[in-house]
Amino acid sequence: MKFGHFDDEHREYVIETPKTPLPWINYLGSKEFFSLISNTCGGYTFYKDAKLLRLTRYRYNDVPMDINGKYFYIKDGDTVWNPGWKPTQTDLDEYECRHGIGYSKFKGVKNGVRADVLTFVPVNDNCEVSRLVVTNDSSAEKSISIFSYVEWCLWNADDDSRNFQRNFSTGEVEVKGSAIYHKTEYRERRNHYAVYSVNAPITAFDTARDSFLGLYHYAGDPEAVLNGKLTNSMASGWSPIAAHQLDVTLKPGESKSYVFVLGYIENPVEDKWESHNVINKKPAEALLAKYDTDAKVDAAFAELNDQWDKLLNIYTVDSSNDKVNRMVNIWNQYQCMVTFNMSRSASYYESGIGRGMGFRDSCQDLLGFVHLIPDRARERIIDIASTQFQDGRAYHQYQPLTKKGNSDIGSGFGDDPLWLIAGTSAYIRETGDTTILDEMVPFDNDESVAETLMEHLRRSFGYVDTHRGPHRLPLIGRADWNDCLNLNCHSTQPGESFQTFGPSEGPVAESVFIGGMFVKYGNEYADICDLKGLTDEAAKVRASVAEMTEILLDSGAGWDGEWFVRAYDSYGGKVGSKDCEEGQIYIEPQGFCVLAGVGKETGQAQKALDSVKAKLDTKYGVMILQPAYTVYHEELGEVSSYPPGYKENAGIFCHNNPWVSIAETVIGRGDRAFEVYKKTCPAYTEEISEIHRTEPYIYCQMVAGADAKFHGEGKNSWLTGTAAWTFVNISQYILGVYPTLKGLSVDPCVPADFGDFSVKRVYRGVEYDITVKQNGVQKGVKQLIVDGAQVEGTVIPYDASKKTVKVEVVMG
Ligand code: BGC
Ligand code: NOJ
Repeated sequence: MKFGHFDDEHREYVIETPKTPLPWINYLGSKEFFSLISNTCGGYTFYKDAKLLRLTRYRYNDVPMDINGKYFYIKDGDTVWNPGWKPTQTDLDEYECRHGIGYSKFKGVKNGVRADVLTFVPVNDNCEVSRLVVTNDSSAEKSISIFSYVEWCLWNADDDSRNFQRNFSTGEVEVKGSAIYHKTEYRERRNHYAVYSVNAPITAFDTARDSFLGLYHYAGDPEAVLNGKLTNSMASGWSPIAAHQLDVTLKPGESKSYVFVLGYIENPVEDKWESHNVINKKPAEALLAKYDTDAKVDAAFAELNDQWDKLLNIYTVDSSNDKVNRMVNIWNQYQCMVTFNMSRSASYYESGIGRGMGFRDSCQDLLGFVHLIPDRARERIIDIASTQFQDGRAYHQYQPLTKKGNSDIGSGFGDDPLWLIAGTSAYIRETGDTTILDEMVPFDNDESVAETLMEHLRRSFGYVDTHRGPHRLPLIGRADWNDCLNLNCHSTQPGESFQTFGPSEGPVAESVFIGGMFVKYGNEYADICDLKGLTDEAAKVRASVAEMTEILLDSGAGWDGEWFVRAYDSYGGKVGSKDCEEGQIYIEPQGFCVLAGVGKETGQAQKALDSVKAKLDTKYGVMILQPAYTVYHEELGEVSSYPPGYKENAGIFCHNNPWVSIAETVIGRGDRAFEVYKKTCPAYTEEISEIHRTEPYIYCQMVAGADAKFHGEGKNSWLTGTAAWTFVNISQYILGVYPTLKGLSVDPCVPADFGDFSVKRVYRGVEYDITVKQNGVQKGVKQLIVDGAQVEGTVIPYDASKKTVKVEVVMG
């Protein structure tokens, strides 16, 4: 069952009812000012850091679902309604929400009044612009009142939700004309404030929540709105808000347009005040003046759309499969950009106060957006590497505002160092820019111990190479990609965090998965060494990789007979083996070892993938492990803490489904690669939205596995490495347009009935127009013709002097 439809021409998902199974959200902003916005106008806004500079409040885990947003109320006689249906939940005659690329639109119609809202964050300003157009579609004149409402957060969202003894006394505001200023803590150490304004004179305002809502009321029945009259309250402590009232008369057929701007302003410390305790509003007034007419809003909206046109023209596909076209050309790339901006910090499942920018997560996200914004990818790599320790290990996260690493969600994860190689290699393969390797980059943000980025990569590889266990496999440390495989932690008390409790290191617990990563990224590191002319180092790295490959394929170490072992626990016991009672096979080493090419020649690769299909596959995707753990294992940790079928305990973790699909392309099975791709692909799961429940235009982190009560139900949408990996999978492996250090390679692996297709790819300043004649073949390039001339192999020779290159690929 569907709750809306795709409008590909406008790059929008059109939601036809406010009663979606879960809030279906969108993200606004792409630089420093961000908002989350749901299909009922829920959500919140922050500047740079969702924890430290939160502008508006949100209430997680509340009822009715999705509480607090930026709301407009319309009072028409005794009827009060909202264009996005919430929070009054008054039935609408018509409703529509269009989530687009960096903007959302709402249409609400009630009793002959139509309200259209367009909301977006302009490309170059720290504000959110919402244009509300009200139209009288009835045959009689209408006098209505419009109210706006936002609730301020007192900046630090964590403190805001806990420290009431202080916070109920600190709130301060100012009002000037139609502009309401939130200036809590500005008197003391802050030099920033927020403003919410409208480009028209107002009848009244409120800035104290209790006056607007009334005691024991909530946003669904605000007393002042029901009374039709805001009270001009001035907040003093408690909960400051911003609410405007506009009284409007509309003739039949008449429309009126209002532009609301929510902005963030920073003043120089020496220029904070206009007069004693009156804030300097000049920059705010300048900002508001930039969006005070419809024409200015139209121009800013056009600029936003132009920016996305350019970005989304870098990789486009034209195939006979609409769903593939839609995901590749629009939604998958859009989600990659959102994960770049948010990492795992702010979604409807990540509170914005828990996790910041993950080391491993950000490196992987980069694989999905590096082609779109290579300069920012470069910056990101340097930021991430700057938090690395001198021995090659890493903090697991950093806060975007400070860019300093912290151990709040643990450290010592055995896989982290290698992801830095993955991200850097992707950047160089995309751009050809090797100067990044010579950049001086600090360790642990200490400039006095800076070394080149190349040295950082060397230490990444070196750390894993020199930290091996009894089977010569890499030590797992706190955990590896699977945060829940806590083999050294041994937690027995409720409430202990698996991510930080107990030792994060041990000399015995090993990870086969990191072994697979070591092969994949060791090879990429060796190629980078070659590029730098370091042939001896490259040879040494390749020797280590060859040794690791043998270990992985050895039945006394990495190989279990029909699939790869997952790990060895701190007692030396196998994890993910037929010898185990539960958790006999895990997805990660099968996907990653095979995508790294391990076992391709020996047949073990195919065996491992056949086992995945036989043991882990479901109609909704490939599960992370089987059989699920039914009892808690202190030697395994969090993985066995979840009820069977959820999250890392036998859920369908969407992130590593593409690893399996890529692995299938490595052994040439296009039918199966695409079958795996389809199962978690939003454009396909849209049809079962009532089961899947999360947004049908983007990926979620996890779908409940076969053991779960709600098999097929998605959770944790938006902020997941799934976005990057599925884009890598479909664009680089299935459609097969892969950036190498030497140039673009075209080597598709598609289902036998996929048909011919074409890809346009802008790469290192050249536009490649690639057409593929598939000939019913799943993999294999018979002919590569570049501008009319036949070329050997699959790599198009890079020629910077050309603007466009025509490429014909004949499979066979
Ligand atoms: C989750 C993991 C996540 C980790 C982050 C765990 O509770 O199951 O998916 O990576 O927390 O710290
Ligand atoms: C989510 C985390 O963000 C990611 O880093 C981790 O790899 C997966 N969960 C699996 O545990």
